[in-house]
Amino acid sequence: MPDPRDPRDGPADASPLTRRRFLAGTATAGAGAVVASLGGGILGATGLLEPPGARAQVAAVAPLVVPFEGIHQAGIDRPAIAQPNSIVAAFDVVARDRDDLRATFVELTTRIRALVKGEPPPPIDAAFPPPESGILGPSIGPSTLTVMAAVGASLFDARYGLAGQRPRQLMAMPHFPGDVIDPARSHGDLLLQVCAVDEMACVHALRYLMLGTRAQLALRWMETGFHRPDAIVAEGKTTVRNLLGFKDGTANLPVGGDGFRDRVWVTPDDDEPAWAVEGTYLAVRLIRMFVERWDRAPLAEQEALIGRTKRTGAPLDGHREEDLPDYATDPDGTTTPLDAHIRLANPRTAGSDANLIFRRGYSFSRGFDGAGLLDQGLLFMAFQRDLGAGFLTVQGRLANEPLLEYIQPQGGGLFFVLPGVVRPDGFLGEGLFAGMPHP
Ligand code: HEM
Repeated sequence: MPDPRDPRDGPADASPLTRRRFLAGTATAGAGAVVASLGGGILGATGLLEPPGARAQVAAVAPLVVPFEGIHQAGIDRPAIAQPNSIVAAFDVVARDRDDLRATFVELTTRIRALVKGEPPPPIDAAFPPPESGILGPSIGPSTLTVMAAVGASLFDARYGLAGQRPRQLMAMPHFPGDVIDPARSHGDLLLQVCAVDEMACVHALRYLMLGTRAQLALRWMETGFHRPDAIVAEGKTTVRNLLGFKDGTANLPVGGDGFRDRVWVTPDDDEPAWAVEGTYLAVRLIRMFVERWDRAPLAEQEALIGRTKRTGAPLDGHREEDLPDYATDPDGTTTPLDAHIRLANPRTAGSDANLIFRRGYSFSRGFDGAGLLDQGLLFMAFQRDLGAGFLTVQGRLANEPLLEYIQPQGGGLFFVLPGVVRPDGFLGEGLFAGMPHP
């Protein structure tokens, strides 16, 4: 039975995201920069990923150029609708010295600029290997591609003389109850996140970036993420279904809405190095879901653990996804258990407003483990201006949540997303090196 309240089950004209609105959202987010589109691009032209009727939303629009330049890096609040595919890759930096590290950021920037425009690299002498993989063919074209770069606390150790430049709250991911962390899937000096409309474009971009930085960046861990290309129902809204089958992103900070700026971007008034202004802290958690066990749990238990209705995403005391839970009238947790995920994560008290974070996660599915169990989960990513008030406080509240019977954090790390590059000749991380003597 179609559910009239669920836009995914709605009629074809149920407020679909039109191509015009998608373009407008992306252009607004690009702060006046040029947004180019390719008529009938990859997804629309092949129809392979194009679902019928109202479901043909993100997938049906042509791939775009998301401008690289901006006060903030792309891949967080622009495009306004997150692309359905992503790769997160963390690296150990093995650059010789600070100059070599600086050159690495310059090289990454040059390559990212070319990638987002879909420009093929300039031809080189045929005696050398081709300048790029060629896996997208000779005319690469835009893929709504973004590449976001962030640095880990370890980059600020003794190696490059950058200790004084460390964002004040940046540290290695601490241990939380329930964590079973694999060091081989955790931390890193540098993190890149590639997002695009199709997985090939992500793979292509990562290979091109790594090809140019082989002597400086050693891959430490990576994770591939996805969500349904048709799952997003409105600009600025981030709701998708995660692999527990629940709507995820409902109570997120609305992109571009009130409070987003205040909660996400570092300001000159913060106790941070000057270069960090307009950057943001990023918490990444690779969280395995025990999906076989979950799929055998009664629906009522699942909903009590999350605090929302599975089908509609409504809070347990509401009817529609956008209804706000009212915990004040349910002090004993009769309707929404006191230890439900959403109630712990955001108790909606006057004080908890300061702890809002922007979540922009992806699902992952990486085969199966030695016991024949599916290895699936959430590539959790959360952005915030204040790591202590944001992720660390929220994660602290989730300690020992009953949902941990079905999930297990296994990796990830804490990072600081570099501010965006505004000048056409600027490069990522430039502020880190400003005024620093040559080693
Ligand atoms: C596999 C792990 C997780 C699953 C399956 C999960 C699932 C969900 C779901 C279904 C919702 C309700 C829909 C929504 O408002 O987005 C939600 C909300 C939320 N989650 Fe998670 N989550 C996970 C991990 C985390 C982690 C690690 C954090 C932060 C440390 C977190 C923080 C939040 C917050 C802040 C909300 C919004 C609560 C509100 O404002 O009402 N979640 N999560």
